[in-house]
Amino acid sequence: MNSAREESTIVSRQDVEDRIRALLDGMSLEEKVGQLNLVQCTGPHVVEDLAPDIRAGRIGSILNVEDRDAINALQYIAVNESRHGIPLLIGRDVIHGYHTIAPLPLGQAASFNPAVVRDCARVAAQEASAFGINWTFAPMIDIARDPRWGRIAESFGEDPFLTGQLGTAMIHGFQISEDNGADTLIACAKHFAGYGASEAGRDYNTTNVPLNELRNVYLPPFQAARAAGVGTFMTSFSDIDGIPATASDFLLKTVLREEWGFEGAVVSDWDAIHQLCVHGLCENDVEATHLSADAGVDIDMVSAAYQQHMPELIANGRMSIARLDELAGNVLRTKILGGLMDRDVTSPPDEPPRMAALTKVREAAEQSLVLLRNEQNILPLNAAHIERLAVIGPLADEPVEQLGTWIFDGDAARSVTPLSALKSMLDGDVAVDYVRALETSRSRDRGGFDDALNAAGAADAVVLFLGEESILSGEAHCRADITLPGVQADLVRRLRTTGKPLIGVILAGRPLAMGDIIEHFDALIYAWHPGSMGGPAIADTLFGRCVPSGKLPVSFPTMSGQVPIYYGHKQTGRPATPETVIHIDDIPAGAEQTSLGMTAFHLDAGYQPLFPFGFGLSYTTFHYSDLSINHHDIPMGGSVVVEASVTNSGDRSGTEIVQLYIRDRFGSLTRPVRELKGFKRVHLEPGETRKVSFRLHTDDLAFYGRNGQFAAEPGAFDVWVSASSVGGLHAVFSISG
Ligand code: BGC
Repeated sequence: MNSAREESTIVSRQDVEDRIRALLDGMSLEEKVGQLNLVQCTGPHVVEDLAPDIRAGRIGSILNVEDRDAINALQYIAVNESRHGIPLLIGRDVIHGYHTIAPLPLGQAASFNPAVVRDCARVAAQEASAFGINWTFAPMIDIARDPRWGRIAESFGEDPFLTGQLGTAMIHGFQISEDNGADTLIACAKHFAGYGASEAGRDYNTTNVPLNELRNVYLPPFQAARAAGVGTFMTSFSDIDGIPATASDFLLKTVLREEWGFEGAVVSDWDAIHQLCVHGLCENDVEATHLSADAGVDIDMVSAAYQQHMPELIANGRMSIARLDELAGNVLRTKILGGLMDRDVTSPPDEPPRMAALTKVREAAEQSLVLLRNEQNILPLNAAHIERLAVIGPLADEPVEQLGTWIFDGDAARSVTPLSALKSMLDGDVAVDYVRALETSRSRDRGGFDDALNAAGAADAVVLFLGEESILSGEAHCRADITLPGVQADLVRRLRTTGKPLIGVILAGRPLAMGDIIEHFDALIYAWHPGSMGGPAIADTLFGRCVPSGKLPVSFPTMSGQVPIYYGHKQTGRPATPETVIHIDDIPAGAEQTSLGMTAFHLDAGYQPLFPFGFGLSYTTFHYSDLSINHHDIPMGGSVVVEASVTNSGDRSGTEIVQLYIRDRFGSLTRPVRELKGFKRVHLEPGETRKVSFRLHTDDLAFYGRNGQFAAEPGAFDVWVSASSVGGLHAVFSISG
């Protein structure tokens, strides 16, 4: 929460607890249950509709009320006309911006820059709080290793360490401000836990996450969120190993409350308490209420089950008043620590200046772009050498589509598209011919291809804006085939025949499988959905005013059938190597089956991704040298310092994201082949060399082992300082037993 506020107005934790107790002592059962009740209400009569219940203390929080005056009116009623004057939590999915939209979280993750993520969250908090919103359902810190899953867009990708770092930054951006906290949002770490493991990448699907994987992969970002002071947690929709998260004692009691000491509110996901019946965990909402309340879900998002059934559970003795007080107390604590009880929530601050917000999201967009391919250094383009530029594709000039998923309040009028940015940048110097070619990313009508070919034929270079519209990723928008939708791949093949330099810019909410067309591009920039200022960021990068520095926060498969594919996989007993891979076309007809040399690969795709986690090119080159490690053997509790020199060996200044990976060679449980443990952004002028240094404490090497304890284990560790999750400078050290 706001640290300044915590010091000044909250005298002590005891003071907070005393306030909670005093409130609870004066509250009726109905009012206590009211604090657990989160309702949504839309339409023109929202104030009239909700006023009686708010006045009577039957509602503790609302979501999705869009009108600022309505929010203020409802908050006024809560504070001035209800018995206890307890302000409402006003929730909204402020995921990657409010009016001004930053790149998708997955795009922000490609910056590997916590400061950028924090700044974007700060902008979003300032804009949203000006509308009376005080609670956002973000960050989503689910580990996402399956790009079929539409919500990968909303994640920070596949890696627990990166997700933990960036989730922390986003929480700080939402919750911490310089002033009295009026322009902050209470953050919500979601979806606790394991949602990203939805089977087949199909949203809401069952998850089967073994304890080892849960503890070591899915939970660490949530623990980091807890350590960052996140105000609330949201349960996952999914069934995890037979128990939907919304009724999981293990997750909510054992891990979150007992182990991590979380004292804020836990909210269910949308209608998830009622859905316990749909899952088949219980027969009716009474039982669902009992299970969720018992496990420790404090706030019921919209199912109204708590409101309808909790009084009866208490009346018949199945639930105690003490339990109800705990749940309501958690909500009150969240409101107090979030500052709602100590400021005038009925008159929110002014909306911040638009230009400052646009500058921040532009910087984020620039840093989110990943240069995946650049044959013969075709990029950056030089305006002095180009007379005509063909700009082609359904996503070159789409103010809404570049914003991505979860932009309920996004103002498309603030968007600057790539086409308009290129036109204003090249004004007069280079003729820009724009051909849409396809109505949408999904269109199958090739009617526009001829115009596209003509424009390409007349141009000196072609920039092709392809990908997915916003609606193809996000919640419930999963795809089984993650190639470019529609006939976009055909368009690429046709344009290739012109022989003109072909530069692809992909706008998408997930990694797309482009193994079959990648070679057709001379250069390829992955732009995700880059947000309001995606256009200028892309134009500047195409023409070298900006040097790309983004790295992939998620592995890119060659083809859909390879997923899930991620760098931190286990070794297996039969790891594939380039020598052991057999291609389907190389198997002679009638070949006999053999068990020799068989390893973990696909006959048609091998075992490597098209682009690995951490990969991204620049317009300059970086040379890594002089790896050193100060100890080769350390005791438990000790640390090593790993250093390497990075030189800008090209002729432009640029920023490299230097990555530190380890491998725990042997463990009481099998360990991933690599784990990211650090990263640093280093800006280097041409010829400049900098020493990059990482300290690794044995605590950084700890994991939940076979005995269920979190500890580092003695033995040998590989360490790499590298430009991606593949290769790099390598050393070995040991923890002595
Ligand atoms: C999503 C949550 C979201 C909530 C409220 C649910 O469908 O899973 O992530 O915060 O709706 O809009």
